[in-house]
Amino acid sequence: MAPLSAVSGSSKGLQSRVFGDIEAQFQLEDDVLHSITTKFLEDFGSGLGEYGHPMAMIPTFVTGVPNGSETGTFLALDLGGTNLRVCEVKLLGNHQFTLRQQKYRVSDALKTGEASALFDYLADSVDAFLTTPTVSPTTAASNPFAGSSAIDEIDPEADPALPLGLTFSFPVEQTALNEGKVLTWTKGFSAKNAIGNDVVKLLQDAFNRKHLHVRCVALVNDTVGALLSRAYTAGGCLLGAIFGTGTNGAYVEKVENIRKLGDHPARKNGGDMVVNCEWGAFDNTRGVLPTTQFDNKLDRESINPRLQAFEKFISGMYLGEIARNLLLSLIDSAPKSLLFNGRSSKLLNLHYGLDTAVLSEIEAVWESGRHPDVEVKGVEGGHDPIAEEQQPEVPKPKINGFAPPAHFLDIDSHSPEDRSRLERIRSVIVQRMELADEDVTLRDAAIVRWASALVADRAAKLSACAVATVLVQTGHARLGGGVVPEEEHLIVGVDGSLIEHYPNFNARLRASLRMLVGEEVERRVDIGMAKDGSGVGAALCALQAIKQGL
Ligand code: BGC
Repeated sequence: MAPLSAVSGSSKGLQSRVFGDIEAQFQLEDDVLHSITTKFLEDFGSGLGEYGHPMAMIPTFVTGVPNGSETGTFLALDLGGTNLRVCEVKLLGNHQFTLRQQKYRVSDALKTGEASALFDYLADSVDAFLTTPTVSPTTAASNPFAGSSAIDEIDPEADPALPLGLTFSFPVEQTALNEGKVLTWTKGFSAKNAIGNDVVKLLQDAFNRKHLHVRCVALVNDTVGALLSRAYTAGGCLLGAIFGTGTNGAYVEKVENIRKLGDHPARKNGGDMVVNCEWGAFDNTRGVLPTTQFDNKLDRESINPRLQAFEKFISGMYLGEIARNLLLSLIDSAPKSLLFNGRSSKLLNLHYGLDTAVLSEIEAVWESGRHPDVEVKGVEGGHDPIAEEQQPEVPKPKINGFAPPAHFLDIDSHSPEDRSRLERIRSVIVQRMELADEDVTLRDAAIVRWASALVADRAAKLSACAVATVLVQTGHARLGGGVVPEEEHLIVGVDGSLIEHYPNFNARLRASLRMLVGEEVERRVDIGMAKDGSGVGAALCALQAIKQGL
């Protein structure tokens, strides 16, 4: 049984104030979410009108979405986070695909060293994948595309190289389906001599240096991949969004609205084009995002201060670090420490030492045995909230367990079930934060659970602003709710660890979305996983590129 810490009456009031104050800083009232969405819409407009805005609104030159009938076998390379993946994707033409993939770890040295070393590593990984003995029978021949419809469109005499689609999940100013300059690095990458260079050329040069017969024919962002792959499986899609290590969205825009394309031939044809928003850079000037001291510390100590402001409030790379900053401030608080008996651990003292996955684990324990989560469609074991006739009530996010601020500190008033959950959370904390058992009380467990919920709830609410902006921008919703033409489902493809695994992230996002655009529209929003979106999206883009003769 864990020790309960004794708190004297007078210090109790002071402590409640400290916790109440922190909680207030993280709360986002409805009117604030409205203002944020309004600013988001303005920035969409500026980014579509001119080049050079932080939220870059990048035209992707992807001018249509697939309908699921596409076929072919393609190589795809996916770089965007901790791992890089090489895949062979087989589009079966009936909304289905098969995929064989291999993950390779990207070390910090590669992320921050010379770009040529990073791209050499990418080429080596493709080489290893192609020569791996696990090649499936259909692809065992030296040309893995033999017999596919994609290869039928290539003259092997003229170009024996294997076509590959590159998913590159960083801001890139695209100038064609197979060309784009790196604008900036994000998510802990800072490889030298990449910014301003064509990423397709950087990769192709590496293939050539290694004498690999592979040709990079298409370049795609992971959000575009999510959009295309959800369209492939669902028959259509409006928005592809990532809520994972980083965050971003890509949506289908009318070409006439992408005013910065001027008289580019792509604009003259009219129609639609997918735009990669790069919404992680929203509000870099921090005009509307309510920032706490924990965010300021995170930003100051990051490798890209003053950049990716929105992403730093939302994504998996940062939520653990925000929570770590918050917990450290409680450990350090004077005259009396408010957490862990004033002790920390090596891990907790380490920059980025608290993984967002730990917050997720803690919230999962707290939620265990309660109402079922509203899972994202396509998550294993999840149900489809849209397909059900009666949509279940979206649970209200519980920041402090249905109680006024600081009530969670009163362990004696918790139900036996909640106390047992806190016991389990305490074990998770001791283990994952590498703290001494005697330094962690049940009350500490309640505090860490509360901190996790604060950080994640704010992230989900802000994510809803981004989704609402796309719905309003494309005329499918009005900010504040209101009548819009009766429509079928508004299909959204998502990917990323937060949306897939973080307890109640989707439910919290939907609750705020409902507040922003009204229940009628929110109910029609069909959020589903775009599993393997990066691989499938790159394959679909490679197909489009080949058809265009690139
Ligand atoms: C990048 C985006 C990417 C997102 C999700 C961000 O850091 O700038 O290009 O789509 O992460 O991976």
